[in-house]
Amino acid sequence: MPKSREIHLVSRPIGAPAVENFALVEREVGDAADGEVLVQNLLMSVDPAMRPRLTAGQALDEAMMGGALGRVVQSKTEAFAVGDLVSNRLGFREYFTSEGKGLTKLTPDPDLPLTVHMHALGGTGFTAYGGLLHIGQLKDGEQVFVSTAAGAVGSVAAQIAKIKGCYVVGSTGDDGKAAWLRDEVGLDAVINYKTQPIKKALEEATPKGLDVYFDNVGGEHLEAALRRMNTLGRIPVCGFISGYNSGHSNVGNLSNIIYSRVMLRGFVAPDFMHLYADFQRDMAGWLKAGKVKYQETIREGIAAAPQALIGLMAGQNAGKMLVRLAS
Ligand SMILES: NC(=O)c1ccc[n+]([C@@H]2O[C@H](COP(=O)([O-])OP(=O)(O)OC[C@H]3O[C@@H](n4cnc5c(N)ncnc54)[C@H](OP(=O)(O)O)[C@@H]3O)[C@@H](O)[C@H]2O)c1
Repeated sequence: MPKSREIHLVSRPIGAPAVENFALVEREVGDAADGEVLVQNLLMSVDPAMRPRLTAGQALDEAMMGGALGRVVQSKTEAFAVGDLVSNRLGFREYFTSEGKGLTKLTPDPDLPLTVHMHALGGTGFTAYGGLLHIGQLKDGEQVFVSTAAGAVGSVAAQIAKIKGCYVVGSTGDDGKAAWLRDEVGLDAVINYKTQPIKKALEEATPKGLDVYFDNVGGEHLEAALRRMNTLGRIPVCGFISGYNSGHSNVGNLSNIIYSRVMLRGFVAPDFMHLYADFQRDMAGWLKAGKVKYQETIREGIAAAPQALIGLMAGQNAGKMLVRLAS
């Protein structure tokens, strides 16, 4: 009978999360019963969306929910075989038993690293793909701004826009990430919003205005972009990370959406599941051709998970933040 270590939320953060809000708890996990599998998680995804759930949604004194990739190590159901890889939402724990609900079998691409299925070829990549092409209705050659452009979602959105022949500006809060965006990814302009006032910098970087702003941040970034939107521009609103710790997202100039007839639309990835096969084909091709580059920040072991989430909110990740639990 395996023991599993898991991360519990033990108190709700006010502002930025801290290690005291979490506890590492060990518990016995039963062997798989009839109709069940025992899964060992290999990789855990660390996502900004976890932060709002620490305030409301995530139960106290229970294992934190989150995306993960696991391997079936015992099976007493015909639906899964030992060795199957399964995506699940039961991250932040090492082992769990399941009747299979919420488990999706993954057949990894043999020509790509497994971790890529956790970001560019997985959920964050799909979010970028559908958010930009379906929600944002991107057209070839348009003027585009992507915030958190060096992050898991942002880096893919920015590179898809480049593939479509667009002029692309990205923002980040770190000089090292800015250099990667400029030198490796080839963005047309990069703004470090921590060292340059975002409104002035975006104005200077967008002489032809903006047709699409892929918003990961909200707040001042959205205000700055709204001032630059061209007539009939689109703003797919993917995330509001600047407001996740405080719970507030102030935007003072929303009336600009009227004058410029801007479409501002929030979305979640399940909105465009009909595009998933197209996404997998396109993204696997772009990754193999080196047209989409990526970075990963991988912390080792379950005990590192709270600090990984804290670090993600503080910008300590280059690209996708993951925790590796087993090889
Ligand atoms: N709608 C959906 O279905 C969906 C799905 C996935 C993610 N999202 C959203 O997409 C956004 C990016 O998620 P991700 O998983 O790709 O994370 P990520 O960008 O890889 O990591 C988060 C990054 O956000 C930046 N950041 C933190 N605080 C900030 C602030 N106050 N202002 C500006 N930037 C800040 C930091 O980068 P810097 O060092 O550059 O500041 C940090 O590295 C989030 O808002 C998330 O909630 C939405």
